[in-house]
Amino acid sequence: MDFLELVKKRFSLRKYSSKKIDRELIEKCLEAARLAPSACNSQPWYFIVVDDEKLKNDLADIAFSGIYSSNSFAKKAPVLVVVVNEKSNYVARVGGFLRGTQYSLIDIGIAVEHFVLQAQELGIGTCWLGWFNEKGVKRYLGIPKSKKVEAIVSMGYPPEGVVPGEKKRKNLDEIRKYFTGER
Ligand SMILES: Cc1cc2nc3c(=O)[nH]c(=O)nc-3n(C[C@H](O)[C@H](O)[C@H](O)COP(=O)(O)O)c2cc1C
Repeated sequence: MDFLELVKKRFSLRKYSSKKIDRELIEKCLEAARLAPSACNSQPWYFIVVDDEKLKNDLADIAFSGIYSSNSFAKKAPVLVVVVNEKSNYVARVGGFLRGTQYSLIDIGIAVEHFVLQAQELGIGTCWLGWFNEKGVKRYLGIPKSKKVEAIVSMGYPPEGVVPGEKKRKNLDEIRKYFTGER
């Protein structure tokens, strides 16, 4: 598929059919994430895939309860992928400190977007989820308190009839200029 077409096709899917996702396909998405670039090739990510129905439902109940319940639609997704921020390597951390940047967040953003675009290419919808009960998720999955869970990705096949809405984005003119030497 033409890359820009793929990008245009991807949207945040918030309704899912009950069709299960083959692990082989999940592995393909993870492979796309694995190959993502990262500052100093630090690869500061770890993915916990929850595709067992009961475990996924239990996780969703914890992750999307109370003030996080606006994301409870994600319980209907057959798969939840929890993205953990692993410690960057020393050079990336020192570089990030000197630049006042946390490279690991940039790196994870790229890796997860690789993941979701690969999923889209396979006809699988996804939704990035940044609003969830992190403490509860860590406790449930046995992730050490010291680590940060940056995102959860819900994934599933779109139910029949669900089509992407219009993309609401800034115009190109609002987000770029070609530098002409004038400041
Ligand atoms: C880091 C990040 C966190 C997000 N968190 C949520 C979320 O908690 N709940 C949700 O429904 N969508 C979430 N989204 C999806 C955005 O709302 C969505 O990408 C944006 O509105 C553009 O729509 P589109 O993905 O359909 O093109 C998140 C997206 C990103 C990149």
